[in-house]
Formats: sequence, C-alpha cells, structure tokens
Amino acid sequence: MQLEVTSQLPETVKADALFLPVYEGTLGHVAARMDRELKGQLQSFISLEEFHGKYGKFMTTSYNGTLRRVILVGLGKKDELTEDKLKKIFGSISRLAREIKTKKIAVALDDLQGDETNLGNIAAQGLLLGNYRYDLYKTQDKDNIPVDTAILLTEKKVQAGVKEGIIIADSMIIVRNLVNTPSMIKVPVYLAQEAKKICKEAHVSIDIYGREKIGRMGMHGLLAVNAGSVNEPQFLVMEYRPRNPRKKIVFVGKGITFDSGGLGIKPGKNMLTMKEDMTGAATVIALLRAASLLKLPYHLIGIAPLTENMPGNNAYKPGDILKTYNGKTMEILHTDAEGRVILADALGYASALKPDVIIDLATLTGAMVIALGTCAAGVMGNNDVLAQQLVAAGKATGEKVWQMPLYEEYDEMIKSDVADVKNLGSWDGIAGGLTAAAFLKAFVDEKIPWAHLDIAGVSFIDKDEGYYCKGGTGFGINLLLEYLRNLE
Ligand code: BES
Ligand code: MN
Ligand code: ZN
Repeated sequence: MQLEVTSQLPETVKADALFLPVYEGTLGHVAARMDRELKGQLQSFISLEEFHGKYGKFMTTSYNGTLRRVILVGLGKKDELTEDKLKKIFGSISRLAREIKTKKIAVALDDLQGDETNLGNIAAQGLLLGNYRYDLYKTQDKDNIPVDTAILLTEKKVQAGVKEGIIIADSMIIVRNLVNTPSMIKVPVYLAQEAKKICKEAHVSIDIYGREKIGRMGMHGLLAVNAGSVNEPQFLVMEYRPRNPRKKIVFVGKGITFDSGGLGIKPGKNMLTMKEDMTGAATVIALLRAASLLKLPYHLIGIAPLTENMPGNNAYKPGDILKTYNGKTMEILHTDAEGRVILADALGYASALKPDVIIDLATLTGAMVIALGTCAAGVMGNNDVLAQQLVAAGKATGEKVWQMPLYEEYDEMIKSDVADVKNLGSWDGIAGGLTAAAFLKAFVDEKIPWAHLDIAGVSFIDKDEGYYCKGGTGFGINLLLEYLRNLE
C-alpha cells in the first residue's frame, strides 16, 4: 500500500472512499465541512442509536462528488481512546476498505487529537498492518484485494511519523511472513538466508554458523535438539552498531522452525500451529532491522539459534545429559521442552558478550498461554527494574506484558540428580512457565540484568482483529522499540 500525505480539502479528494473519524457524539471540523456537502446526513448519523460515534462502529453513505463513499468511523469517547485503540481503528479501516473492494482510500486525520509524529506513526502502522494478508499461495481469492493507496488528509506535519510507522509496520510484516511461512519451506538454512537478506538491506551485519561451528563452540543443547532432524541447524549473530552507542544490549530469540515435540511428540491439535515456534528469532531479526533504519543510539546484538525439533532416528532422548556453551550441564526429561535447551546455549553465548542487558523472546510454554491468554506476554528475569521497564513499554504500546515471579522455589524444582539442572519442573505442569524461566536463569550471568519474554500466547492469532490478521502478529517490535526509546 502506498501512503500519500496531502492537505487537500476532503470534498475535492479523488478516492473510492473517504473515512472520517469522529469522537462519540460530535462531528469534528473536517467531518462538519463534509456534512455541509452531504446536507446534514452525517450529523443525523451521530444521533442514530446504532452509531453515535461509538468505538469501532462504521457508518457509510454515498456521495456523488469526487468520492463514491463517505464513511464515518466511530472513535468512542475522547478520553478513552488510547494510541493502541486508535491503531486498531486504522487497521479496521483497511479491512473494511478491502471488504468493499476500494483500491484508493482517503482518511481525514485533522479531527484527531494528538502529537503529529505519533499520529503519522499510528496511522501508517494501522493502515499497513490492517491491509496485510498472507495469501501467497491462494490462486483464487478475488474478493480479498489489498488497498493500493491510502491518502492521509491533513495539515499537520505527519511525514516523519509516517516514515517511522512504515519502517515499524514493514518490520512487523517481515515477522508475520516468516512466521506464516510453512515449516516445509522455512528450514533453518532458509531462515538464515532470509535473515541475511533482511540484514543486508538494513545495514545490519550478520554471521551465520552451521553445524560444525556450533559443535566446535560446544553448543550441545542446540545440537541435541537438532539431532532428530534432517535439516542442518544454524546459529545467527546479528549486530547493529551506531557510532558512540550508549549501551550494549543483546536480544535472543527462540528459533524452532517446527516443534513436533520430538520423541515426546505432540498430539495433532497442539502441533498444528508449531510453525510459529520461531517467532522469537524472527522478532529479533526484524527488531535489529527496525532499530538500524530508525538509527537508534544503542549497540544491539541479535542472537538466534535455529533448528527443527523432530523425532528422527537420531533424536535426543529423555535421560540424555548435555553440556552447554558455558559448561553447565542439563538432564533431558522431556524432549518437548526444547526451547529452553537451545536457549541455554544462546544465553550462555549472550552472557559471554558482557552486554549491559539481555532480553530473550521465546514461544516457550503453553503454561504461559493458560496463565495470560492471548493478550499479554509474561516477563520474568533477574532484575525487577528491567522487567518493569518492559511492563511500562507494554502499557504505552498496547503490546501488553505482565510480570510473573521467579521465586527460589522454582530453582529447586529444576534441580537434577545427575546434572546441574533438568529441563522439566513437574509432570503436572505446575508453574510451567516459571520453572522454564528458572531454567533459563541458570545459563545467564547473574551480574547482567536479564529479562525473558514468554510470547507463546501473543505470537499467533486465530482471528482477524484490529490491525492483526489470522496468523503471526508481529508482537514485540513496538514493545522493544519503546523500551529502547525510553532508556536513560
Ligand atoms: N513451543 C512450545 C510452547 C508453545 C505452546 C508455544 C503453545 C506456542 C503455543 C514449547 O516448546 C513446548 O512444547 N512447551 C511444553 C513444555 C512442557 C513439555 C514442559 C508445553 O508448554 O507444553
Ligand atoms: Mn516443545
Ligand atoms: Zn517449542
């Protein structure tokens, strides 16, 4: 979708539809101006019970001028409209525009309150993300045509924000596309090559290590999870380094390109969406891209261990004992708790880089989905200040994060009789998300502030909603950019 910004008058703009956002109960200036053209029709909609300008409601009328349709968009009460709720409105505008098959739409921005840069950013993100579909393999879907052009009607200086919004939305779409790609295609080598292309375009450097190097580095967790797969594992190290960076931060992303559960194989229904199990890795790749294009003043390193978790002949087994990158050992109880096994190596590697902060993202546990559902990620770690910075960034962006505890009792639950730790807290799943985090903690240098985001519930969605579309969401990009913007 092309985004254009113009200060044209609403009644002169050439488009298939004009969207006019209105707060509950009153027409703003732009809407009122259009209402004179429409002889009071819009004002009469405001008094309609079913519209009023309630949040998320649309009301369409036809117009015989340069536009075919004028569509009022309800924003609800002014003081209840958050930035995320507004972004969802822009997402819904794109969705409706697709449904009614409009190719070119105009959206009036000047009845909206708010900071110019933010407004441009939110409008661009919402419109682009709402226009997204993963339809690469559809040979027939004629009634689902993307919108070509959205014209933003405004006198405000929204251009800088629009530019930023495009970078962020494109980065989220990169995540969505990678997550939605079938696992038969996105084997680790494929994902690594995609990462290479993305990094190259964004001036992020990347090193890709294959099986041999992974072995030489002593990453036996990653090798073990990979052992049941015919596809070679990869270990990605990406780096964005601006001049005079303020801090060095490492992001680590779980990259299981398919999680069958391994020998502890998953029942079909639980396996159905397991192509999403590389969301953490995809998010880290896209985050470095966004940070580089936005020229953030931080030295960022992205790490992504990539492998399938398959039950092939050579698969790792319950009872196996593995030595990881930093020399610590783990006992395998359950081959489906594989995320923590590969992250153990990656977090050990991250710690050795001696950064100021480590943040990992992982679709780690079903337990976190049970605890928080699909609307928030869980955050845990060794530093409450860091965890609360992420909670605050979640509040600001609408990518919600809730802090869960890491009590010493969970450390007890993952102690092994034969190794340093075991990869399962309890067969009953009690505190499953927290014992998983306690396991990760064992591989992080305790002097480095570290946060773990369990994104199992938020990485994938099964319905179209707001600026989300069935499949991968892109959750985490706005969250972490906001976290970075608020540092110091
Ligand atoms: N990838 C899954 C977690 C997951 C579940 C992600 C649902 C997204 C949606 C992870 O590897 C896993 O299988 N976890 C197990 C751990 C258990 C065996 C201790 C789980 O949560 O059931
Ligand atoms: Mn698993
Ligand atoms: Zn997994």
